[in-house]
Amino acid sequence: MRFIYATLAAALVHTAASSAVSAVLETRVTPASLDCEEYGKYIGIHDGTGAEYSAGCADLTDACLKLNGTSIWSHAQCVAAATCQGTLGVIILNQCQNHNVAHAASIPNLSGTVYASIVGSVAAAAGDPITQQNYIDFVFGQMSAANVTQWPSYDYVVSNWWNPITSWTATGNSIPYSNFDDWLHYSETDTDTK
Ligand SMILES: *[C@@H]1O[C@H](CO)[C@@H](O)[C@H](O)[C@H]1NC(C)=O
Ligand SMILES: *[C@@H]1O[C@H](CO)[C@@H](O)[C@H](O)[C@H]1NC(C)=O
Ligand SMILES: *[C@@H]1O[C@H](CO)[C@@H](O)[C@H](O)[C@H]1NC(C)=O
Repeated sequence: MRFIYATLAAALVHTAASSAVSAVLETRVTPASLDCEEYGKYIGIHDGTGAEYSAGCADLTDACLKLNGTSIWSHAQCVAAATCQGTLGVIILNQCQNHNVAHAASIPNLSGTVYASIVGSVAAAAGDPITQQNYIDFVFGQMSAANVTQWPSYDYVVSNWWNPITSWTATGNSIPYSNFDDWLHYSETDTDTK
């Protein structure tokens, strides 16, 4: 948590110095190079909760970044990474390598394909929410695809990755599509980027 405030303060200084540049490039997202450096160092550490380093999370975030996409919530790797890394870190790191990645609020919605991969196609068609078991299966499946070798425990994943999301959505023990999509877009903001 602490480094985010330091980064924000530094970004404010940076913003004043580069306002002429950002006025020209207003449609593009160009995080301060300091943000890129800071977030690069914190891959694997949740930027919202300050949980300790998780090698499994670092592998998920790296698998997301490897795709170098722009509709990042259409990639299961990036959605899984957001749940352990935090949305802001995943968004900023993607913006750092690809300036076509929009601000958090403007990133396209969570794709139906990814949602169906989390809850199952029948449940997705029925509009069912994500259960804790759905999430565990999804995130462990994505870690497997990312060739994780140092696995977190189920308890760790539930308390450090799942619980902070249900706390934010305030939807009880499961999360409907629209609340999860809102979490991806609004749980953290990227106002420290220009
Ligand atoms: C990612 O995509 C952007 C935009 O096409 C490109 O400029 C950049 O070089 C790519 N980065 C990597 C690491 O492939
Ligand atoms: C994304 O979801 C929001 C909220 O559900 C909705 O208002 C918006 O139209 C959707 N955007 C697109 C491009 O489908
Ligand atoms: C995981 O390993 C397989 C087999 O070596 C490889 O094809 C795949 O690209 C790896 N996945 C990632 C995310 O690096």
